[in-house]
Amino acid sequence: MNNGVLDSNNLNGGQKLAVKYFSVAVILFVAQILFGLVTALQYIIPELFFEVLDFSVARTVHINALVIWLLFGFMGAVYWLLEDEAGVETVGLKLGNLAFWVFTLAVTIVVLVYLFVQVGPGDDTTRWLINEGREYIEAPRWADIGIVICILVFFYNAAATFMKGSWSGISGVLILDLVALAGLYLAGMFYTTNISVDQFWWWWVIHLWVEATWEVLVGCIMAWGLIKLLGVRRQIVTTWLYIEVALMFGSGILGLGHHYFWIGTPEYWFTIGGFFSALEPIPLVAMVVHALYDSGVHKFKAANHPAMAWLIAHTFGNFFGAGVFGFMHTLPQINLYTHGTQWSASHGHLSFFGAYATIVIAVFYIAVQQWRGGVWMSGDLPGNGWKWKWSLALLNIGVLGMTMAMLVAGYEQSFIERAIEGSTWSGYFAAQMHPWFIQGMNWRMVFGIVTAAGTVLLVWDLLTIGKGEKRTRQEVS
Ligand code: HEM
Ligand code: HEM
Ligand SMILES: [Fe+2]
Repeated sequence: MNNGVLDSNNLNGGQKLAVKYFSVAVILFVAQILFGLVTALQYIIPELFFEVLDFSVARTVHINALVIWLLFGFMGAVYWLLEDEAGVETVGLKLGNLAFWVFTLAVTIVVLVYLFVQVGPGDDTTRWLINEGREYIEAPRWADIGIVICILVFFYNAAATFMKGSWSGISGVLILDLVALAGLYLAGMFYTTNISVDQFWWWWVIHLWVEATWEVLVGCIMAWGLIKLLGVRRQIVTTWLYIEVALMFGSGILGLGHHYFWIGTPEYWFTIGGFFSALEPIPLVAMVVHALYDSGVHKFKAANHPAMAWLIAHTFGNFFGAGVFGFMHTLPQINLYTHGTQWSASHGHLSFFGAYATIVIAVFYIAVQQWRGGVWMSGDLPGNGWKWKWSLALLNIGVLGMTMAMLVAGYEQSFIERAIEGSTWSGYFAAQMHPWFIQGMNWRMVFGIVTAAGTVLLVWDLLTIGKGEKRTRQEVS
């Protein structure tokens, strides 16, 4: 152990690979924020970067970078806990390293093509080389195939390591979940000329990722994290994990129907989607109760305070962003008015940040602690840990502020454009010019800058926390 300095000798094989994934994840997170600022500014100054970096392109980079940095974070998290959970060395690390570099190179090329080529003629060459045109997973076909291969390698490494070592409740759920998560990606690769059919399958990836398989994945990370950070008994977290997974799949799979209201699918989806998606907040409440209960039982004595704080932020963010803000517009009677307004974007920000960015950041802190030699990261840090506390505050206040600004704008759109003007073209413009909309967009910008400040501080903190620290991590039991 080499305390206080970043030294890869402090890491096991899987963890060495994990920190590579985390490093790329952080870079993409910063890119996501920069492009978010550009798109927000384009709402205020529409001619900004016109025909140089159009809104559509900046937005593509913003949301695809988001999905990819979270995937990198998840893959890193799995490599991080693999040896520890399986009790043996990671299998297939050489191949895993190769897959990491291929994946990273593919992502870099795709981003450069988005930025410099931007659009194509809209035929097969565009689909293969530039952009597949499916929001959030827009990577062109060649990169799709590359991604599938890299994910297969990742999956093999994870499954083979557990096969060689020992299985646990957490790893069993994790591996089954990864089968579903990776398999679903294929649903976004079908090609049909019928837009309804295309959307039908595309939603399988997006919805069944964020509202089913990703939730289960972060449930596994959470379970493992609580054992490590608080010393919670394994039986307790595993029991919770099973209950949450059952509830999540029970509601999330048919909850998919809330995206089938207006894309040309049969009407029975109104009932199915409305009913099952309305049940989705239940497992999310369970997760808040679970984490707070465990923290309380262990008197909030944690081995890594920043990570624990971000785990708690995750449970609340998941509950409010996905549960409450999702529930608000999930009944067809309400969605008729809110569909595709800033209301959706409001929910999209709070849920992606609250449910996923938060927990990946928690894992970053767990990684940095070990990377520096398993140093002290509980209370009583130099400078009272102001950097992690301020970045936690700025990021959460920033995203919450953006969420509220968009909610006001979305409410106004639903009211003026849909309810009063009956979804007409002139109604659309009336809503866009209303002071509440304009102010909402301005406030989103302001809170976007707060979010960006929090991000800068986060990166700085991750690079410096634990530097020169000689105390070892707090024991928990
Ligand atoms: C962490 C989990 C979740 C994430 C990351 C998430 C994210 C998103 C995003 C980004 C969109 C916009 C999609 C688009 O571009 O059209 C969306 C739409 C939607 N979400 Fe979620 N969501 C989550 C959970 C939920 C839950 C639990 C519910 C319901 C209880 C829900 C209900 C909806 C509905 C109804 C829409 C469609 C909005 C519209 O018609 O415009 N979401 N979600
Ligand atoms: C500096 C901070 C940020 C700013 C200024 C910003 C701004 C924006 C803007 C202007 C859009 C386009 C909305 C539209 O199409 O009308 C957008 C979309 C989106 N952003 Fe951000 N964003 C920021 C940070 C984030 C973060 C931290 C997350 C999640 C972790 C996120 C997730 C999303 C998602 C999921 C969408 C698509 C939403 C939808 O279409 O429903 N953004 N963002
Ligand atoms: Fe959904």
